[in-house]
Amino acid sequence: MTDVQPALLVAADAADAAARAAALVEGYVRGSPAPVLGLATGSTMIGVYDALVARHRDAGLSFAACTAYLLDEYVGLGADHPQRYAHVITEMFAGRVDLDAGAVHAPRVDAVDLNCACAAYDHDVRHAAVGVQLLGIGRNGHLAFNEPGASFDSRTRVVELSATTRADNARFFDGPATAPTRAITQGLATILAAHHLVLVALGAHKAEALRAALRGPIHTATPASVLRRHPRVTVIADPPAAALLGC
Ligand code: GLP
Repeated sequence: MTDVQPALLVAADAADAAARAAALVEGYVRGSPAPVLGLATGSTMIGVYDALVARHRDAGLSFAACTAYLLDEYVGLGADHPQRYAHVITEMFAGRVDLDAGAVHAPRVDAVDLNCACAAYDHDVRHAAVGVQLLGIGRNGHLAFNEPGASFDSRTRVVELSATTRADNARFFDGPATAPTRAITQGLATILAAHHLVLVALGAHKAEALRAALRGPIHTATPASVLRRHPRVTVIADPPAAALLGC
């Protein structure tokens, strides 16, 4: 079985990690006539998007030619709910740069037939051919909302969120009882179709997940371990997140 160790960058701190991830995105966007970005949400990405916004504002980095695809979206939130990832990404990034709102795509969680919407989104993402996919990692090793046990062959689908993920995300809602229980997520195979995967991990609470992903067995118990089956992955970690990697 393929086991490709990702390029690992241990940044000086969280701001440096964000700057390094932003630099990779910038290089891709400046070098492509029609860049296709894979966008992640989560608090880890705040600094990355802030750094990209700064490059847009201060260094002429334009996203006007880009299209973008979100990794996942909650099911069950009202269309106007501020925690809908489509809104979150507008607030964090797309609405702060010259990325056209119509160029940012998210799974259609309001569709009558969710399975049909998943299949269509999966097709669209693959057809678009994501050049750089930003990724965070869950405390349980999840990628997007591919929870432990997800098949490495999985495609875009409706998933139940694990208790760990619901607890982690409860801070964005009025507590665990109101946090969504389902989402549509790109599958692991969908994510791995991107050309370059850039995973950012910050903080000691991500150290064990990162160790399991990079040093443990390649196994569905740790969804992010699937990254070792992709030829072009860059992992950017701050020192607390990298603490268990033995480097
Ligand atoms: C959510 C997202 C993931 C993200 C994870 C980590 O579950 N679906 O894509 O990687 O949160 O979030 P944070 O960066 O806030 O730790």
